[in-house]
This record gives sequence, structure tokens and C-alpha cells, in this order.
Amino acid sequence: MKRDLLLLGLFMLIKLNVFVISNESIKKPTIVVSILIRNKAHTLPYFLTLFEQLEYPKNRICLWIRSDNNVDNSIEILNVWLNEQRFKYHSINIITDNESKINENEEDIADWTTNRFIHVINLREEALNFGRNIWADYLFMLDADVFLTNPKTLELLISKNETLVAPMLKSDGMYSNYWAGMTSEYYYERTETYVPILNREKIGCRQVPMIHSAVLINLRQKNTDFLTYNSDNLQHYNGPKDDIITFALAANASDVPLHICNDEIYGYVMVPLESQDTLERDYQQLINLKLEVLGNFFNSFVQF
Ligand SMILES: *[C@@H]1O[C@H](CO)[C@@H](O)[C@H](O)[C@H]1NC(C)=O
Ligand SMILES: *[C@@H]1O[C@H](CO)[C@@H](O)[C@H](O)[C@H]1NC(C)=O
Ligand SMILES: *[C@@H]1O[C@H](CO)[C@@H](O)[C@H](O)[C@H]1NC(C)=O
Ligand SMILES: *[C@@H]1O[C@H](CO)[C@@H](O)[C@H](O)[C@H]1NC(C)=O
Repeated sequence: MKRDLLLLGLFMLIKLNVFVISNESIKKPTIVVSILIRNKAHTLPYFLTLFEQLEYPKNRICLWIRSDNNVDNSIEILNVWLNEQRFKYHSINIITDNESKINENEEDIADWTTNRFIHVINLREEALNFGRNIWADYLFMLDADVFLTNPKTLELLISKNETLVAPMLKSDGMYSNYWAGMTSEYYYERTETYVPILNREKIGCRQVPMIHSAVLINLRQKNTDFLTYNSDNLQHYNGPKDDIITFALAANASDVPLHICNDEIYGYVMVPLESQDTLERDYQQLINLKLEVLGNFFNSFVQF
């Protein structure tokens, strides 16, 4: 009798949520967002505005920002934004170099020399180790020409419960931030699974050989400990000196699958410039992409 009463009392307490840990009482995971910026003065206003609109507690986010070798006023724009916003974030680790304009040996701004790859590899590796060292739960590797139009992106990606996950990003063409195939030399290979993912014919998160530009890494998973952007850290590496390819192969070697999610419209990405291209081409591309975003936005209204 007494025991039943006790149980009843217990159940009532549970019903009253006394024993239930509600979602609201648990703090969100901590995230380091790594942002590399070079010649992004034209994309930064959109990038930063959308980033700011992400529905995720900013006091659980640490920003890790590096910017150098700019021929435009990227750093100035970044600083204007930071002066207004920096206090909302948990912390900011930032190094900007406003003196350097172009790396040694580079012919022009879109020339990807080996030195440039090494530079980016070192920066990404530094961000990865920074996240590990400060015990961040997640590292979000985000490029400054990605436009996350879906404010729930971070929350949704975390809810996928995958070690490595990227939101599928649209461009103004067939380009996106994943590969559906990889050649034996570890380069891009077009396969028949690419387009159905892009066109969202099958919806969900699926394993692919490459994700980049916006990658969420769950650092709480032990098997991320050997992920790296630097091929010197990998045994028997015979791929190119390339940050994203090394990372994808390191993940594979650690048995960590890469996932691309197209279950929502998450956002957009700029197509990388070809080596002969100038910034003018990127300006034009940004206009095209903005039209694409507007068009999609409009379509989503018309459907209702
Ligand atoms: C708590 O969060 C989980 C996952 O985000 C969700 O599935 C669940 O419905 C939430 N529970 C409550 C009581 O809000
Ligand atoms: C770089 O920034 C420093 C400090 O903000 C400033 O004094 C200097 O004039 C800037 N140099 C250039 C080339 O913009
Ligand atoms: C998340 O994934 C892990 C395995 O990686 C699993 O043990 C766990 O139950 C999953 N959690 C949820 C909420 O799905
Ligand atoms: C590693 O790569 C092989 C060959 O491409 C593939 O079959 C396998 O699924 C990959 N494993 C992971 C965990 O990504």
C-alpha cells in the first residue's frame, strides 16, 4: 500500500516534469566555427548576415577566423561586422593580415599553387586542433562564400547524429559541395548518383566520398581524433596536396563516413574560380546566385 502510494507520487512527480530533464534545461553543444577569408568582400555581407541569423545560441559558439592575402577590403568589412557582433559570441580567435596581397609564385588571385594549398591546409589543421584543444563539441568548417539561408541549419545538422555531415548547397549550376564519385587518383568523378542528390529526388542524408565548404565535425566522437587536413599525418598517403581530399581520405582511413544531407533547402555556394579568372567573374557569379536564391524563394511561395 505504502509502496503504491510512493510509486503514485513518483509518477505524479514525473508527470509534473520534476524528474524529466527537459530539452530547455540542457545547454546546446559548443561549436567552433572556422572561417577562412580571402578576397570575399563581395560575399561577406551576405555570408555574415545569414550567419548571424542562424538560430543557435551565440554564446555556445566560438569563432575562429583567419584572413590574409586580400586585394579587396575583406578585412575592413569583417571588422565592421565584428565590432557590432563579437560580444554575442562566446569567444573569438582571430588573426588578420592586412598587409599581404598575394602569395609567392601566384600568378593571380585564383591561382592555386602548391604553396597556397599548403597554407590553407595549415590553417584548417590549426582550426581542427584548436577545436580539440578547447574541448569543443563540434567544429563547423565553413567557407565564406556559403550562404546558409536556412536559419535552422546548425541545429538540423547536429540532429542528424552523424560524425561528419554537410548540408547540400546549391549553386547557379550543377556545382555543389559534395562528390558522388572519386577517381583512383582521388579526384572528382561524375557518377549517376550525383544529379538525383542535387535535384533532391531522394531525400535524406547519404554517404558520399567527399563533402566540403560547410562540414560539421562531431569532435566528441573518438574516431575523429585522427582526422586531418595534412597528409604528413597520414601513413601511405598517395593523394594530392589538397586540404579537402586529404580530409576525405583521412576520414575513410578512420572509418568515418561523410554524409551529405538534402532533406531541407539549407543554402547556396559559389562555384570556385578557375585559375585564369578574375574577381570580376566572381562578382557576376554572385549576381546570378542571388537571382537563383530569389527565384527559389519565390517558387516556394507560389507553391502554397
Ligand atoms: C527533445 O529533443 C529531441 C531531439 O531534439 C526531440 O525529439 C524531442 O521531441 C524533444 N522533447 C521535448 C519534450 O521537447
Ligand atoms: C592594417 O591594419 C592596421 C591596424 O588596424 C592599420 O594601422 C594599417 O593602416 C592597415 N594597413 C593597411 C595596408 O590597410
Ligand atoms: C547517435 O549515434 C550513436 C552512434 O554513433 C548512437 O549510439 C546513439 O544512440 C545515437 N543517438 C540518437 C539520439 O540517435
Ligand atoms: C572508404 O572508401 C571505400 C572505397 O571507396 C568505400 O567503399 C568505403 O565505404 C569508405 N568507407 C568510409 C567509412 O567512408
